[in-house]
Amino acid sequence: MNIAIVGTGYVGLVSGTCFAEMGVNVTCVDVNQAKIESLQKGEIPIYEPGLDEMVLRNQREGRLNFTTDLASVLNNVEMVFSAVGTPPDEDGSADLQYVLAVARTFGQNIKKYTVLVTKSTVPVGTAKKVKAAIQEELDKRGVNVPFDVASNPEFLKEGSAITDFMKPDRVVVGVESEQAKELMTRLYRPMMLNNFRVIFTDIPSAEMIKYAANSMLATRISFMNDIANLCELVGADVNMVRKGIGSDTRIGSKFLYPGCGYGGSCFPKDVKALIKTAEKNGYKMGVLKAVEEVNEYQKTVLFHKLAKRFGGEANLKGKTIAMWGLAFKPETDDMREATALVLIDLLTKAGATIRVYDPVAMNECKRRMAARPDAATIASQIVYCNDMYEALLDADALLLVTEWKQFRMPSFGVMKKSMKNALIIDGRNIYDAKELADAGFEYSAIGC
Ligand code: UDX
Repeated sequence: MNIAIVGTGYVGLVSGTCFAEMGVNVTCVDVNQAKIESLQKGEIPIYEPGLDEMVLRNQREGRLNFTTDLASVLNNVEMVFSAVGTPPDEDGSADLQYVLAVARTFGQNIKKYTVLVTKSTVPVGTAKKVKAAIQEELDKRGVNVPFDVASNPEFLKEGSAITDFMKPDRVVVGVESEQAKELMTRLYRPMMLNNFRVIFTDIPSAEMIKYAANSMLATRISFMNDIANLCELVGADVNMVRKGIGSDTRIGSKFLYPGCGYGGSCFPKDVKALIKTAEKNGYKMGVLKAVEEVNEYQKTVLFHKLAKRFGGEANLKGKTIAMWGLAFKPETDDMREATALVLIDLLTKAGATIRVYDPVAMNECKRRMAARPDAATIASQIVYCNDMYEALLDADALLLVTEWKQFRMPSFGVMKKSMKNALIIDGRNIYDAKELADAGFEYSAIGC
């Protein structure tokens, strides 16, 4: 089977590589020439455990190719997966220009029955627009080539993308013809040995499933963050509460971890886009608006705890604050919507110096800071450290922002010697309060 994947971002590159791993001939297409050239040389633009070697192997074995020329690929494939970006518009709606551009190129070039499958997260109703754009291009050409559109949303998580792709809980496919359904079944059949179900739905439902799933997960997190904040006020321990409620099978234990806010490319964007879709349809998503509000607040919680501890924001001026973790979660260098960005803003405005360390996101942070209008001022307030202990030098406090494995069992003795003040504010609840008290630390976590 021959397929093309358009967009070599996270979803496109991982999906393309995994399909190739299953024996499919995959051509990955991107308009970004520089990116394609590096991929052709075997350089991977994103950090994802296990991806490098899988790309290289499939490239070497000839099943995975990279090109900028979608038009020429379209003659040789049965299906095209569109995994291009859908960045938020000014108002939070998903911007469909890239999705529709793929549809147009598809319509301008297909010569035989081909299916255009959308993998990008797109608002309900997009498939209709995609179909219309393709038809318009076919009409312009004055030809009548049969085609189908389909929706196959991707649920992979950064950091565990390959396993998520290869062994998903389920694959959702929205189709409107038997022919497209058969092709999709054929494509996923080898992977179904990994014991997952392919759920076929109509197209609008498949589009909705992605938003509903991400919004439900974001809701669980914001709900737990609200409960955690309340636990602190009433003297309860959210870790115990989490275990207590998570063991109810109706609730389940996953995605119930309170913390210093969710980030990333999906939850914030998809929650916003679903609120917008509802608004456009004259409906107010009350719960999701609250989910967003709680998350915005939650990203500031570590700062508020710190300010309170030092007797007010004004007293943070001149303080040195160590920050462990910059990425929005472990195993990625992605800082989109990361809590660290909010904390950097608040701390630098308050006049503190921040000593930061992240195992992989340091360059990404430098890049982002350099792009700010206040780059020069910011640069004088952030010290990029070579390792986690160096970040603690003379620090008045440590903020644990991302729960990388290497932060989980540090040497508290070494930490205490480096820090000016033995204070840890833990945004991911990874430490044991008693152990830290014994080691002579003052410790504060979320919800306990
Ligand atoms: C998410 C969805 O899980 C995935 O299905 C979808 O396709 C894309 O969006 P991702 O953004 O890669 O994946 O990360 P995920 O592991 O889901 O974490 C998202 C954020 O939620 C992180 O900031 C994480 O720290 C936070 N989180 C997660 C919590 O605060 N508590 C939890 O219990 C789980």
